[in-house]
Amino acid sequence: EELLQQINSTVVSTKEELEAFRLAYLSKKGKVTALFDELKNVPKEDRKAIGGALNNLKNLAQARFEEWSASIGSGENKTVEDLPDLTLPVPPHSYGSLHPLTLTRKRITEIFSRMGFDVSDGPEIETDWYNFGALNFAENHPAREMQDTFFIEKGAGKDDVLLRTHTSNVQIRLMNRTKPPIRSIMPGRVFRNEAISARAHCIFHQVEGLYVDRNVSFKDLKDTLYYFAKEMFGKDSKIRLRPSFFPFTEPSAEIDVTCFICKGKGCNICKHSGWVEIAGSGMVDPNVLQNCGIDPEVYTGFAFGMGIERITMLRYDIKDLRLFTENDVRFLRQFSGA
Ligand code: PHE
Repeated sequence: EELLQQINSTVVSTKEELEAFRLAYLSKKGKVTALFDELKNVPKEDRKAIGGALNNLKNLAQARFEEWSASIGSGENKTVEDLPDLTLPVPPHSYGSLHPLTLTRKRITEIFSRMGFDVSDGPEIETDWYNFGALNFAENHPAREMQDTFFIEKGAGKDDVLLRTHTSNVQIRLMNRTKPPIRSIMPGRVFRNEAISARAHCIFHQVEGLYVDRNVSFKDLKDTLYYFAKEMFGKDSKIRLRPSFFPFTEPSAEIDVTCFICKGKGCNICKHSGWVEIAGSGMVDPNVLQNCGIDPEVYTGFAFGMGIERITMLRYDIKDLRLFTENDVRFLRQFSGA
């Protein structure tokens, strides 16, 4: 009874007091052990009850000891200063950041929307007709192989199923369902069976642009892409057109822009030419308009297609395209707030 009262009334707040408590009530030479030693002098019939009471005493001492040692912790005396300050502001929550390709796609969309282009979308799994046939690729045209197509179902001609190799399929779908004037850009993911390296990937992104109306001219194409280059890469940017070939445009041109990194002076990125290629383009071939039910005698149009990866690499000086798909947060975090 006496020990029970002692244990209950003891308050321990330092390491030293805790050790004193342990020695007094829990050690081999302590008071509780001493009582256990007395058990042998207790009449047999009372031994069970008294033994039980002693056990309770021991457990109580043990429980209180554990409680105090947890709160005293490492043994340092706890003071108000050691406790967490609940009035401090919460650390800012860290949000994810937009992917650099998303940032570039948004910027491209912004620039073209200011020129009156809206945004269209289309399927990534496409038939041969929408990816090639309607775009004036002749039957058995080598370009089907040239673009390293991933076929899903082959042998059905224009109904072959494939992963689109460019976003030009959206051009066709858009012209099928709307009548001119059409002014739209088509961002999206495309697929080509290419070996993955610092400069190529089998999955990448394009933005296609299409403008069809009465009297759309090659000059409109040039002006549009010149404006785009200046907005995207800076006021001093110039563009250069090189003759090229695409089955769905005639004439066709490859568009180069002044190298964003060296401002045209020559560096590794532009292989010391001062120019980097950013897009394919041209006047929509009359056959393509016809395939989509648009009268080429009344309407003309231009189209262009650019790679989002390429532009992002120029914009942020990124040297390896694989970084875009590795999802390494050390890379991705660098675009927070961009
Ligand atoms: N579709 C072409 C490509 O992927 C790019 C392009 C689009 C060229 C529109 C001209 C006009 O290479």
